[in-house]
Formats: sequence, structure tokens, C-alpha cells
Amino acid sequence: MDRGLATALSYRWPSALAGALLMDSPGQRHVFQDGDYALLVDRKGRYYLVHLQASRTFYSHMGQFPHSELIGRQEGTRVTTNKGQRLLALKPTLAEFTLHMPRTATVVYPKDLGMVLVYGDIFPGARVLEAGTGSGALTITLMRAVGERGHVASYDVREDMLERARANIGTALPGYANVTLKLGDVSQGFEEEDLDRIVLDLPEPWHVVPHAAEKLAPGGVFLSFLPTVLQVHELNEALKAQRTFDLIETFEVLLRPWEVGGRSVRPAHRMVAHTGFITTARKCEPRPLAQEQEAAEAPE
Ligand SMILES: C[S@@+](CC[C@H](N)C(=O)[O-])C[C@H]1O[C@@H](n2cnc3c(N)ncnc32)[C@H](O)[C@@H]1O
Repeated sequence: MDRGLATALSYRWPSALAGALLMDSPGQRHVFQDGDYALLVDRKGRYYLVHLQASRTFYSHMGQFPHSELIGRQEGTRVTTNKGQRLLALKPTLAEFTLHMPRTATVVYPKDLGMVLVYGDIFPGARVLEAGTGSGALTITLMRAVGERGHVASYDVREDMLERARANIGTALPGYANVTLKLGDVSQGFEEEDLDRIVLDLPEPWHVVPHAAEKLAPGGVFLSFLPTVLQVHELNEALKAQRTFDLIETFEVLLRPWEVGGRSVRPAHRMVAHTGFITTARKCEPRPLAQEQEAAEAPE
């Protein structure tokens, strides 16, 4: 792995630009500033993510309006285009941003991001290793959860992915310096040690298991997000064979939206039925071989 290509992100954007995801000072938090991102919602519920710049104009089939009309106004305001169409304007939440940000690879969906944080036990101050970075949706989520005292080292084998993630992180969390983006194949190993958590979203996590066993702190959480059962099975076999992982669990998250209107209250016709499976495991003292033999011989 070329360690020389590791690049630390240390954005120090002017404070006027801070706050894409509500991180700026409380007084200005809910007022649109020049440089903020705004999420515009039209009457059909279509979303537009717009980077506000005083000199620019928003154009769409709904009409146009100058960005300066929104700058200085509070979130939740409604702007009217030159065609008389109203657009609701809000600052994007983390879930909205990750769904609408530019992406090169498939992102982890908000329903899974939330579970990664809780079941991966990502806490303020945690030292986390993540791979692959992809478009950075999971990286942004981890950065916000570990906070200023924590750190995320995020690896990807592709420089174009890192570029995309770098841009998305700079947009979502300007001013955050708690991430290091690294070009590298984590199946070949990584230099970080004594890690609190390892979070993987890549196709063959079983190759990472031996390195995770070595580099996780005692009790550390290993978490992997995978789209298919065959991958999940292979990962589970690798975790068991390693013997230093215990409490291995796999689950999926089904989120069914409901439509609530008038006398019709029912599940929506469409839902994101499948994204992936989350597998977690804890780094422990290796299981004694005798205990494994007993477990294998015990009746089901
Ligand atoms: C599905 S994408 C990750 C998306 C990301 N979690 C997000 O939310 O935006 C998978 C990424 O893993 C990277 N990758 C695959 N194998 C890898 C490896 N062995 N080491 C590091 N990155 C890897 C790919 O280049 C790709 O960018």
C-alpha cells in the first residue's frame, strides 16, 4: 500500500460557509447564509439541493429566482419563482444530504446509517477505521458521531472515489478536521492500531478479518455492511474461524413508510425493500478450541 498517498483533510473554511448540516453558531443556525446548502422542495415533493451563492440564480422547469432572495431568510421559508411556483426551502438534514449529494458509488441509506451508529456503537471520541470510502455518506455520518475528539481513517482503493468523498465531506461538514482519507487496499492491511471500531462497506470483508483481529482494541466492534447472503455467509465463516471474534450477529433493516391522509392511513405502495445486511462482532480473547469442539458436537 502506498502510505505516501494518504491525505489528511483539514478544511478551514470561512465561518460564513460553515453549517451545511447545522453545525454553525446557534444564532445563525437557521438562517440561510451565502455558501450554505439549501434543499428546495416543489409542490410535487421533488427535491433540489442548491449551493447558495449571492451572485447566482436558481433555474428549473418551475422557473427561476436569485439566490440572494433566500440568503438572510429563515429555514422553512417559501420562495416564489418568476413563474409563480412556490418552493419550500430548508437546510438539508444528514439523511437528506446523503440521499441528494453527488455520488460515484452506491451510498449507505439513512435507515442503515442510523443502525450502523447504534449497533456499531460509534461514540464521541472513538477512533474508527472505515473502508471503502465510496461517495462518503457513511464517512460523514461517522465523522459527525465521533466528533472533534474522535477520528475516522477512511480507505478506498480508488482515487476517484476519494475525490468525490472529499468534495462531499467538504460540503457537509466544513471545518471538520477529524478524518484522514487514504488510498489503499485494506485487505492488505492498514497502519492504524488500537482501534475502537472498524466499519466496512466493501465486497470482500473476510479478507480484512485477520487485520481487524490484530488492530482492534479489546472489546472493539467490527461491523460490515453487505448486500447479499452469500457474502454474509462467507464473512460469518471467516469471523468464526478467526476465534478472536465473538457475539457475531447479522440483521437487516426494513423501513416501511406510511401514507397518512384523511381516512386513508396505510403503508406506502413503494418502499426500499432491500439495501443490505449488517454484521457485527466483538474482539475478544480467543475462544478455547475445546469450547468450539463442544459447541460443534452439541445437539441443535
Ligand atoms: C459501496 S462503496 C462504499 C460506499 C460508502 N459506504 C458510502 O456510503 O458512500 C464500496 C467502496 O469500497 C471500495 N473498496 C472495495 N474494495 C476495497 C478494499 N479492499 N479496500 C478499500 N476500499 C475498497 C470501492 O472502491 C468502493 O468505493
